[in-house]
Amino acid sequence: MKFFIDTADVEEIRKLAKTGMVDGVTTNPTLIAKSGRKIMDVIAEICDVVPGPISAEVTATETEGMLKEGRKLAAIAKNVAVKLPLTVDGLTACKTLRDAGTMVNVTLCFSAAQALLAAKAGATFISPFVGRLDDIGQDGMELISDICQIYSQYPELETEVLVASVRHPVHVVQAAKMGAHVATLPPAILRQMYNHPLTDKGLAAFLADWAKTGQSIL
Ligand code: E4P
Repeated sequence: MKFFIDTADVEEIRKLAKTGMVDGVTTNPTLIAKSGRKIMDVIAEICDVVPGPISAEVTATETEGMLKEGRKLAAIAKNVAVKLPLTVDGLTACKTLRDAGTMVNVTLCFSAAQALLAAKAGATFISPFVGRLDDIGQDGMELISDICQIYSQYPELETEVLVASVRHPVHVVQAAKMGAHVATLPPAILRQMYNHPLTDKGLAAFLADWAKTGQSIL
C-alpha cells in the first residue's frame, strides 16, 4: 500500500520524506490556506522533495476554468496530479487532462456511483473521504470496501483507490485489508502508526539488560 501525506507544510514533508515512507503528497485549498503561502510556490517545493504524485487542486468550478488552472498546475512539474472535484464539470475536465497524459486525482467522492464515473473518466486516483462520512453517521470504510469490490470486477480499470479524510490508524489498516492502493495521511497519523506501548516497554527492557553486560557493539 502506498502512503501519501496530506499536508501543504513543506518542512513537515521534508522530515517525513527522510523516513522513506512517503510515496506522494495531497493538498487541497484548505491546506494551502493553512500554509499561508502561494500555491504555485508550495507545489513546486513539494515536487522537488517528493518524486511521487503531488496533488494540487483547482478552484474553478466550470470545465474550461478547471482546464486552464489544471494545465498551469501540471506545468509546475511532471509529478503533479491535478485534483478535480467530483462534479459533471470536474469529470469532463478529467477526461481531457487524462487524454493529454496528465495525472488526475478526483476528489470529494462520497458514493460508489461517483467512483464508477471517475473510473470511466480515466481518473488516475479516486479519493473517497472516509472521515467526513463517519462524521455524518455513515460508514466511510464501507464505501472503500464497495469501491474496491467494484473496481476489482474490471481489471482493465487503472484508477487507484486513494483513501482520504483518514482520521486514525485503524482506517489505514482496514483500507489495506480491503486492497485500497493508497492512503493519504495527516502527518500525525503516520507518526501514530509507528507506536505501540509493548514496543516501548520491550525496548526499555532490552536496553536495561544490555547496559548490565557492559558491552558495546561499536
Ligand atoms: C485528501 O485529498 C483531502 O485533502 C483530505 O484527506 C481531506 O481530509 P479532511 O476531511 O480531514 O479535511
